[in-house]
Amino acid sequence: MSHPMSSAAPIGVFDSGVGGLSVLAELRRALPREDFIYLADTAHLPYGTREDDDIRQLTARAVTALHGQGVKAVVVACNTASAFSLDHLRSHFALPIIGLVPAVKPALKATRTGVVGVLATPSTMRGSLLQTVIREYAEPTGIQVVKAASPELVPLIETGQANSPRTRAVLRDILTPIAEAGGDQLVLGCTHYPFLSGSIRAEFGDQFALVDSGAAVARHTRNVLEQSGLLTEVPQPGEVRYLVTGEVEAARPQLTMLSGGSAGLFAAPSPLDIAAIQT
Ligand code: DGL
Repeated sequence: MSHPMSSAAPIGVFDSGVGGLSVLAELRRALPREDFIYLADTAHLPYGTREDDDIRQLTARAVTALHGQGVKAVVVACNTASAFSLDHLRSHFALPIIGLVPAVKPALKATRTGVVGVLATPSTMRGSLLQTVIREYAEPTGIQVVKAASPELVPLIETGQANSPRTRAVLRDILTPIAEAGGDQLVLGCTHYPFLSGSIRAEFGDQFALVDSGAAVARHTRNVLEQSGLLTEVPQPGEVRYLVTGEVEAARPQLTMLSGGSAGLFAAPSPLDIAAIQT
């Protein structure tokens, strides 16, 4: 598929739900004059417990919808979608597709104990992107990678429970083996998980440095746009429009609360510009 691309067009950012907001905040910080369209496939989340083909199809539908909005590039701000879809998307769409992989490489560089934890969705754990990074970069160094996954965390975050006792109990349960193995780096391998930083700190203090891919993806996106001649030339600050595949009003509270990213970088305008879309 092709589409006339203009540097004035917005950048599409996609996730199953609010997780990609942690990436969007970094994108807005790195590219303050760009416009963005954020698409949350709230009708179909969570992706992290779906079958490979299902994830691939839903992601292709979402990117088709963003393409239809005239975006100049798409950031797949979801590790689970990236794990199963990037090759497929790149062969179908004539626009830059930027994906992400859990930030294992920086964690391998930073570890002092030689033990790195990776927290991701069950599907991302199964996907070849993460397995390839571990095989190519971790195994040759002898650094131990300890994995943790839970189907519960994304639904808890989506329902405003990132700091709840239930979330903290799940984290205590699945991260204790990493702490006991001596892990000093924890890779947040799902874009929802930066929103768990408070709960992880509450349970484990400074045991782990928390490592995510948001800032690196934002830098990479900037480079890709620059190399493609697609950086905007407009001088004024960019804007964000939000699209959801489910109910707009059901999504509004979480989108509003988390649209500044996990560090609360940007204050949400009131009300947030959210529209429904079918993918
Ligand atoms: N935010 C997505 C990720 O980075 C996963 C969310 C989901 O399970 O839907 O993996």
